Amino acid sequence: MIKLIQTSEELLKHRKNQDKVGFVATMGNLHEGHVSLLEAGFKDFDHMYFSIFVNPTQFGPTEDFDKYPRTIEKDLALIEACLKKYPHKSVTVFNPKDVYEIYPKDFKLQISIQEMNKILEGEHRPTHFDGVTTVVYRLFALINPTKSYFGLKDFQQYIVIKKMVADMLLPVEIVGMPIIRETTGLALSSRNQYLNPVQKETALILSKTLNHLKELINGKKENLALAQDYIRTMIKDPNWDYLTIRETNTLTEKIENQSSLVILAVYRQEKTRLLDNMQLEVK
Ligand code: PAF
Repeated sequence: MIKLIQTSEELLKHRKNQDKVGFVATMGNLHEGHVSLLEAGFKDFDHMYFSIFVNPTQFGPTEDFDKYPRTIEKDLALIEACLKKYPHKSVTVFNPKDVYEIYPKDFKLQISIQEMNKILEGEHRPTHFDGVTTVVYRLFALINPTKSYFGLKDFQQYIVIKKMVADMLLPVEIVGMPIIRETTGLALSSRNQYLNPVQKETALILSKTLNHLKELINGKKENLALAQDYIRTMIKDPNWDYLTIRETNTLTEKIENQSSLVILAVYRQEKTRLLDNMQLEVK
């Protein structure tokens, strides 16, 4: 069963008499990656909440807020189709009818995860993470989920949200779910539809480079220097916004004594920034 709610007031009323629920936050234009988050939730909960809201505060002034695909009918059909596989589960879809359902006129809160909001994605999108943490906080406050599921494709977002939850002592567990890829290796993203066929082919450089770096490192700290050399050569191509190896939880560049690492990359195709990453352990 699927229930669509469009106001915060109705959401709070609806949520009042329910037990524990899981939650997936999205901006809509759903694909298999989003469905995998919902399915992960169904393993833990009979009832899932699912938000569809293109959050204006996480877009910069020259970014694609206006162009971002709004496909609510298709999105609902995809959730319905997923539910057919889980006849005993139900979903409440929260699709705010306007921005004031999330940010009332006198709304003043802004949550910033200092430092982490300035590096990597934050360097290229200075206001992005403050917009993300604030909207996710607001959605958590409305829904009060026990667990919330996020795709690891947006790895820095996952880390920033985990830090927000830890620092604010929120009673919600953040679950990171594996990246879903096309058979070519391209990570699924709503923004892939901005690419023409040639750009889509070119974008495979992301997954190929990450795989190559993982092979070069081969689980050994001693190979990190080799990987850094390779990165230095690759980033001569100006389409890389970044290609970098970081510690997994802090995203620090100081990785010499670390064992859990993540390679984070953004490759640009004209105005479209494509994100990808790969986690690895080294000894
Ligand atoms: O990952 C997204 O789609 C968005 O950043 C999120 C988490 C739904 C917040 O608007």
